[in-house]
Amino acid sequence: MRKPIIIANWKMNFLRDQADQYVAKLIKKLKNDRQIEVAIASQDLFLPDLIRIADETPVSIVAQNAHWENFGPFTGETSPKALANIGVDYVMLGHFERRELFNETNSTVNLKVRTALNNGMNVIVDVEELEQVAPVLEGVLEEQMQRIMIGFEPTFAIGTGMSASTKGAEDVAAQIRKTIKKLYGINVADATRILYGGSVNRDNLKDLINQVDIDGVLVGKAALDFQTFWELVQIVQ
Ligand code: G3H
Repeated sequence: MRKPIIIANWKMNFLRDQADQYVAKLIKKLKNDRQIEVAIASQDLFLPDLIRIADETPVSIVAQNAHWENFGPFTGETSPKALANIGVDYVMLGHFERRELFNETNSTVNLKVRTALNNGMNVIVDVEELEQVAPVLEGVLEEQMQRIMIGFEPTFAIGTGMSASTKGAEDVAAQIRKTIKKLYGINVADATRILYGGSVNRDNLKDLINQVDIDGVLVGKAALDFQTFWELVQIVQ
């Protein structure tokens, strides 16, 4: 009932042709397999191309950030309404690198989450610790929770090659589900997908994805090589 998902977070990598070819290759290999969801989080520049290439295919396209206002004097920012308008499938908000390098806080992430939801978008909201879950969801309505996924990415594991232990990741995912249950009740808790991110690779993915409360993964470095990412997709399948 919670469809497994694997997301390649490209971060600020690739040029246009590389991005297009990667997604085209992925679609070809996936054929029409919709047992799992495969998603690509790309920098904004490539999104229109990727949305066109992935249209009506099992590949979802994810924006890596958006502002909390729809329009206005915010030079260099991306409007969530514009992202919704071009047809991105998800927007990812609150990634550790946004918090660490661009001063985002629980409160700005929460504003972003609410505006994205009000635009009808699907949201992947990232947290590094359990304590961030309630603040980033503040004001989110029960009926909006079906458009939310929670990405749990412990700081020490991001880009370090040192993943959380399977048990450690599952424990936090289970705690996150408990928190959602407390906030929204059992049905929402059971339906919400919780993802793990942080040095996911060929060696740890199988165990991680087999955990009861881990419904998917966010893959950074290992997704930069197409062949490696494809191997990871097959493990989730
Ligand atoms: O969103 C992805 C995460 O930041 C994980 O990155 O797989 O390079 O550790 P990583």
